[in-house]
Amino acid sequence: MTVTLFDPIQLGDYHLKNRIFMAPMTRARTGPEGIPNELVATYYAQRASAGLIITEATAVHPRGHGWPGAPGIYTDQQQEGWAKVSKAVHAKGGRIFMQIWHMGRAVLRESIQGQQALAPSAIPAEGMLPNSEGVPTAFEIPEVMSISQIKEAVSAFADAARRAVDAGLDGVEIHAANNFLIDAFLRDGTNQRDDEYGGSIENRCKFLLEVVDAIIAKIGAGKVGIRFSPTNAMFGIKDTNPEALFTHAARQLIKRNLAYLHVLEPALDSGNSMVAGLPPVAPALRESYDGLMILNGSLNQETGQDALSSNAADAVAFGTPYISNPDLVERYENLIALTEPNPETFYGGGAEGYTDYTAKEVENA
Ligand SMILES: Cc1cc2nc3c(=O)[nH]c(=O)nc-3n(C[C@H](O)[C@H](O)[C@H](O)COP(=O)(O)O)c2cc1C
Repeated sequence: MTVTLFDPIQLGDYHLKNRIFMAPMTRARTGPEGIPNELVATYYAQRASAGLIITEATAVHPRGHGWPGAPGIYTDQQQEGWAKVSKAVHAKGGRIFMQIWHMGRAVLRESIQGQQALAPSAIPAEGMLPNSEGVPTAFEIPEVMSISQIKEAVSAFADAARRAVDAGLDGVEIHAANNFLIDAFLRDGTNQRDDEYGGSIENRCKFLLEVVDAIIAKIGAGKVGIRFSPTNAMFGIKDTNPEALFTHAARQLIKRNLAYLHVLEPALDSGNSMVAGLPPVAPALRESYDGLMILNGSLNQETGQDALSSNAADAVAFGTPYISNPDLVERYENLIALTEPNPETFYGGGAEGYTDYTAKEVENA
């Protein structure tokens, strides 16, 4: 029998009610200290009918925390803020994993107390990020991480996972996508180190696997997922052989019995396209990784169902549809038309474009 979007699924330690997941989305509403408040709790609780909510990327270390208004999980206050979120989501019967990131080279100096951004090699991110005055600003050449800085980052990821679970989150998703620190170590376009963290594919996977193992040691593999974006060119990230790289990583990960592998592909095909035009790697990942796989990227109900029916994935994640349809599961179930999101309120601000997209009553459909 064909699996449907509405069928339950076992994901690591959890039995989830459906296979419609909320993709991680930075919404930049946690203030200068990165502390989630009641508004953030309301936003996630509104979306609790998703089989799994994956939160916005949350910084593990102040030096990797460069998106203005994005949350962190390295202070007690941030942890307390997240406890409000997990409580609100659980009260509505939802499950929630925290996406954790270190932004690596893609941060502006002003966001990290005047320090230089960190990266595997001295290769700046391409493109720009708005500074505190909203002026698009180019990235500087990052500092090459020393071995002790690498070890510190590994510990920061592990401590963040511990804090996330202590705050009541159900698990973590390691952000190894979209050019940020782990992705920058993985790919040969950004990692040109000649030590044990660079060169061969095995060496370039070393930082990732150290992070994974350190997190498993703290919270157990059944609470850990990971996200890749193998063919995404965000901030100029690239690799000469993404299929060889990511299938190798997947074969190492399967041994660790993680909750899931989340693959963003095809990447964003919107106006500010991040697509590198490379052939997809997800099918090869599906073959190399005999565990639960989530697909994401420009899916809708039909193509999401197709991904399950063709066994391309076990579950699917939706990003932008979740911004403006908190009841996405019910809308799909009852064939209710979707509300379009307003991109002007994606990042920053308050309730507008955040918690004011309301659920549609089924009887009014
Ligand atoms: C406003 C916004 C913020 C995003 N923030 C993140 C993020 O924090 N972490 C991440 O891995 N992807 C992030 N993404 C990418 C989404 O998770 C998703 O991969 C992308 O939107 C494609 O899925 P969709 O076509 O269903 O929207 C973001 C996307 C949007 C639109």
